[in-house]
Amino acid sequence: MTKKRLLSGIQPSGTIHIGNYFGAIKQFVDLQDSYEAFIFIADFHAMTTIQNKKELSNNILNVAMDYLACGLDPKNVHLFKQSDIPSVTELTWYFNCIITMPFLERATAYKDAYQKAKEINVGLFDYPVLMASDILIQDADIVPVGQDQRQHLEYARDIAIKFNNIYGETFKLPEALILKEVAIVPGIDGRKMSKSYKNTIPLFGTDEEIKKAVMSIVTDSKRPEDPKDPEECNIFTLHKLFLKGEELLSLKKRYKDGGLSYKESKEMLINEIINFISPMREKRIYYENHKDEVINILKEGASFVKNGITQKMDIIRNKIGVNI
Ligand code: TYM
Repeated sequence: MTKKRLLSGIQPSGTIHIGNYFGAIKQFVDLQDSYEAFIFIADFHAMTTIQNKKELSNNILNVAMDYLACGLDPKNVHLFKQSDIPSVTELTWYFNCIITMPFLERATAYKDAYQKAKEINVGLFDYPVLMASDILIQDADIVPVGQDQRQHLEYARDIAIKFNNIYGETFKLPEALILKEVAIVPGIDGRKMSKSYKNTIPLFGTDEEIKKAVMSIVTDSKRPEDPKDPEECNIFTLHKLFLKGEELLSLKKRYKDGGLSYKESKEMLINEIINFISPMREKRIYYENHKDEVINILKEGASFVKNGITQKMDIIRNKIGVNI
């Protein structure tokens, strides 16, 4: 039986954090054997915020190394960068011509930027359409993402439906895969962990960076001896990502009994994070010393993907009428 298709991507817009890992990358790794998996680096999307050559190219390479260090296996997964697949921008244009401005004005990311009176580039406004192209061009069945991407998946489905209505059945409707427990990983201030809120714990940070981030997690002012509600505590929410079963239960009990200081809870969390990432760090060092290998993996991925979509793009051009 042919495997269903999984596709997802990350923007190379900064350093990968624990929210990216648990909200998305871990699912890519866990599901890479069960699906035909396409994982990419959304560098066109990152251009909506980064307009610096060195920064963008460094970030692209870093995300590629992060993916590999986290356990994506190029034997299982087609790993590539979006800009190697120019057809996605062609498809974006076709979609742009069938959707309306008010449809895109409803996008949360656009509305947020608008309310902050930011200067909004056309790329940012069109962001959901480019993302729809990434997904629909590959006939993806499922798209593992965090909760913040749910609306984008709805956009992809709506755009597919509109195209299919106008030109006939062409695109599959993709499903978002969002795991409830990790849909919104909180940052050190309790809001969603996000590069733009500067509240992240970097996945591949140094011990010092991880310590600094964890020690600044915001808590209430309960004293060490006071009983505490673990479910109300930002530190405990992060412990839940690393501890399971008995270990988690016993920590929960210590919270409720009183006697556990926030400082001790943070120190425990620092150890959990450092132990958890240490094997991935080693792998990452390997790739830092073998960048050519990383670049080759991306090239091979792109060439496979380009081949795979040639026929689909031809069908699309035929349906639109630009093939004569
Ligand atoms: P990006 O780069 O912002 O984030 C990458 C993935 O990490 C998830 N994520 C989180 N999950 C849980 N808790 C958090 N605090 C958290 N922060 C980030 C995101 O939901 C995402 O899954 N638009 C996408 C990139 C993209 C894409 C695509 C994804 C472009 N084309 C096609 C899927 C399919 C983005 O900006 O993700």
